[in-house]
Amino acid sequence: MTPSVRKLDWDSNFFGFATAQASCSSGSPEEIRQIVSWCEENSIRCLYLLVDAAASSTVRAAELEGGHLADIRITLARPAEPGTAQPVEIRVATGEDVSALKRIAAVSHTDSRFYHDPGFPRELCDNLYETWIERSVTSDFAQIVFVAEVRSKAAGYISCHVDSRGARIGLLAVDKKARGQGIARGLVQHALSYFASHSCSQIEVVTQGRNLDAQRLYLKAGFIPKSVELWYHKWFGLEDRSS
Ligand SMILES: CC(C)(COP(=O)(O)OP(=O)(O)OC[C@H]1O[C@@H](n2cnc3c(N)ncnc32)[C@H](O)[C@@H]1OP(=O)(O)O)[C@@H](O)C(=O)NCCC(=O)NCCS
Repeated sequence: MTPSVRKLDWDSNFFGFATAQASCSSGSPEEIRQIVSWCEENSIRCLYLLVDAAASSTVRAAELEGGHLADIRITLARPAEPGTAQPVEIRVATGEDVSALKRIAAVSHTDSRFYHDPGFPRELCDNLYETWIERSVTSDFAQIVFVAEVRSKAAGYISCHVDSRGARIGLLAVDKKARGQGIARGLVQHALSYFASHSCSQIEVVTQGRNLDAQRLYLKAGFIPKSVELWYHKWFGLEDRSS
């Protein structure tokens, strides 16, 4: 049987070591062992393993195989209905915004799992999110990115995806100096209107268990929790990179 694991070419090139991902939801301990063996046979350095938080035997197997808990992945969802207009200047992002958005991205996503695993160098984590927002604006990686402005300067962004996996919010961040003024609320409401005008029925967003600001924001915008999963990172090699 081929275990449900695949090498991640993009991540491997980006980080400079072989990474693989397995979505094993509620797999048996034997399946987890097969995934780990596959990684050993394929010279993987870091495995990302996504497990249903309620699947206790899978969670235990991930831990027994040496997985390090890197993140609690919370998916929230709500029906797509037009958002309520907010007093925030919002427009579509263009290539000219990229450097300003990258500056925000480089310091904003520190709740994500890569920052909580010392195996990933901090500068590469910053660069990951710079690259992610740049690709979202300049390629078809995201359908659209909206920018919020304060005094004609970019103060935040939200990326929207509509594809075969459904409609979802990708990246959202607000410049640290501009937080607490309703800018994220405005961006989320704007994104809701965008999704509603594109015949989407349900919108999803993923955030981290440690990201209380984002959870409060999305709950207040009418999103409700849909699933809770656990991201384990398992390192292979001479030393355990997670300690
Ligand atoms: C999360 C984030 C986008 C919020 O941006 P913001 O512009 O400060 O949020 P807003 O001012 O629009 O706040 C909207 C609501 O969120 C809640 N909220 C946001 N930040 C909060 C905080 N620090 N403490 C308590 N509540 C907070 C408030 O309840 C607020 O509710 P209100 O509408 O009743 O005022 C911002 O903190 C950020 O960029 N964080 C880093 C990136 C990130 O975590 N992105 C989300 C990834 S999934």
